[in-house]
This record gives sequence, C-alpha cells and structure tokens, in this order.
Amino acid sequence: MNQLSVPKLFLAPMEGVTDWAMRDLLTSLGGIDQCVTEFLRITEHLMPESVFEKNCPELKTNSRTRSGTPVFVQLLGGKAGPLAANAVRAAEMGALGIDLNFGCPAPTVNRHDGGATLLKSTERLYEIVKAVRDAVPAGVPVTAKIRLGFDDPSACLANAQAIEAAGAEWLTVHCRTKTDGYKPPAYWEWIAKIKEVTKIRIVTNGEIWTPADFRNCHATAQTNDYMIGRGALRDPYIFNKIKKSFIENNIPMTTFSEVKTLIPSFYASSAVYVNDHFAVARTKGWMKQLSLSIPEFQDIFEEMKVLTKPNDFKTRLEQLL
Ligand SMILES: Cc1cc2nc3c(=O)[nH]c(=O)nc-3n(C[C@H](O)[C@H](O)[C@H](O)COP(=O)(O)O)c2cc1C
Repeated sequence: MNQLSVPKLFLAPMEGVTDWAMRDLLTSLGGIDQCVTEFLRITEHLMPESVFEKNCPELKTNSRTRSGTPVFVQLLGGKAGPLAANAVRAAEMGALGIDLNFGCPAPTVNRHDGGATLLKSTERLYEIVKAVRDAVPAGVPVTAKIRLGFDDPSACLANAQAIEAAGAEWLTVHCRTKTDGYKPPAYWEWIAKIKEVTKIRIVTNGEIWTPADFRNCHATAQTNDYMIGRGALRDPYIFNKIKKSFIENNIPMTTFSEVKTLIPSFYASSAVYVNDHFAVARTKGWMKQLSLSIPEFQDIFEEMKVLTKPNDFKTRLEQLL
C-alpha cells in the first residue's frame, strides 16, 4: 500500500452497542466508510421482515445511515441453508451486503453452533459462505468476519483461503483467537501471513484505540482497510483523527466539551429507536466507556449510573452536560 493513501475505515459491529442510534451518531461525525449491523442470529427459520428492520432500520433508507454511510447486515449461525435463505430476504429488503460472523466468542452462541466455534472447520466455513454467495444476487457482496482461530491462530490461513474460494468479497480479521478473548495484544502480524496465501481484500481489526495504535497496526498489517470497535466508544472522533493524521501532524486529544454535546442527541435517538428505558441503559453504557478515556466523565458517570427513571436521568443529563 502507498504509505500516503488514506485507508478505508469500518465501524465494528458490536452487539448491544453499535445499534442504529450509535451508527447514526458515529457516522454523522465523519471518517467512517462502512458499517456492519450487530449480528442477527439465524437458527432454522426465515426471520420476519420486522426482525431485519429492527436490526437494520437503514434498510428503509437505502441501507445507509442518515449521513450516507453504507451498512451491511450481519448474520450469525451454523446452518448454510437457513443462512442463505435469510441472506436472500435481507437482500430483497435492500441490504447492500451480507456479512457472516465467524468470530463471536459468546459461550451460548458457540454452544449453539455459531460464531467462533465454526473456525474449527474450514469445510463448514466454505460451505456456509458458498451457500450464501450462491443464493444472493451477484451484485450484493457477501463478506465474512473471523478471529485468527478458535485456539490455534494458524487456522486463519486455511480459513481465509476457504472463504476466498467460496467467493467472499472481503474478510475482516479480528487478530486474536477465540481463546484469547479480548486480551491484548492483537496479533496484527498474522495479516501478512494471510496475504501471502490469499488475494482477498482484508479488513484488519483489533486493539486500535488511538491514531498512534492505528499507525502501528498499519505498519504491521499494511492493508487498505481497518475496523475499529471499542476505540470508537472511547473516542467517537477517532475515525476522523486517523484520516486527518495522514495530512496533519499533532492531532489533538478529544476533549470533554467536544463529546458532551453528543450525549443528549444520542439519548434522544436511542429513545426513538426503542424507548426511554432503553435510552437510559445505552447512554449509561456509553458514558461508562467515555469515563475510561475522558476524566471529566468519571464523576458524571458515577452520579448518573444510579438513576433509573428516564425523567430523572434526562433532567440530570441536561444539568450536567
Ligand atoms: C460488546 C461487543 C459486542 C460485539 N458484537 C459483535 C457482533 O455483533 N458481531 C461481530 O462480528 N463482532 C462483534 N464484536 C467484536 C468486534 O466487532 C471487534 O471484532 C472486537 O471488538 C475487536 O475490535 P476492537 O479491539 O477495535 O474493539 C463485539 C465486540 C464487543 C466488545
């Protein structure tokens, strides 16, 4: 990659976090090129359209956030047939692409034959990606997201080859095994090894919290595409900053006053998305993350976390922010 070319940046799917309201807010700040929905778990059945609409309200707005960022629908499961049928339904509803989740470490998901447990079987990954690819219209990309392996990181080589052979458009790699969980570091060095054995477009993911982390990751992975998850919650401007860092030096730290103005509108859109109780829970969750990166949020979060009634929460939010 040309050292000066600005990368494409993806907002990571995070179940219980990057819902419509969070995608809407973060993409409105700029710098994000692609979103993926939280996973939709598929077992046997064809999901009703209402389930897809809840997972991806953007299906009603040309599968783009209000600021125009494309959103792919992510499916998770172990059965090729039902995954393909549900992918077709999402495509019929206007999904711009289907992402397949093979990285989820949650025990319940893994016990039910979904997520990272599939990384143990290269054949099954191939079978699922191929079935979904064959089922959806050619113009709708099918993509996949993996961890390096279940417990053996070298599994990523054969798995990436299988996913490429099955016709995936790109492959996101969270550079840790399922056994690693979320424990730092992320092993970005595996990306070079995957690139030696495949030609598939790779999206590098894991442990990018700051523009400096991005630089290190980029120097190691040398891809054009990067995905950021938790770092976006701690600094909602990280995508912009990374892009600016290609043209400017000395990118300033994100300040309390920049972020505090985002909170009331996030609360309001979370309330529209579900309801006020949901908005209280989601806003608390985000403030907790912010309190880990912006000191001024620590006392505010401590005070707000005990408020459960939406009216109390909203009133105090207005007073404090
Ligand atoms: C709370 C939470 C929920 C997540 N949900 C999903 C999900 O629905 N689909 C998925 O592919 N990955 C999911 N992930 C994994 C992230 O997309 C990403 O791979 C991981 O957080 C590593 O990136 P990061 O270090 O930038 O956070 C989730 C991660 C977290 C922390």
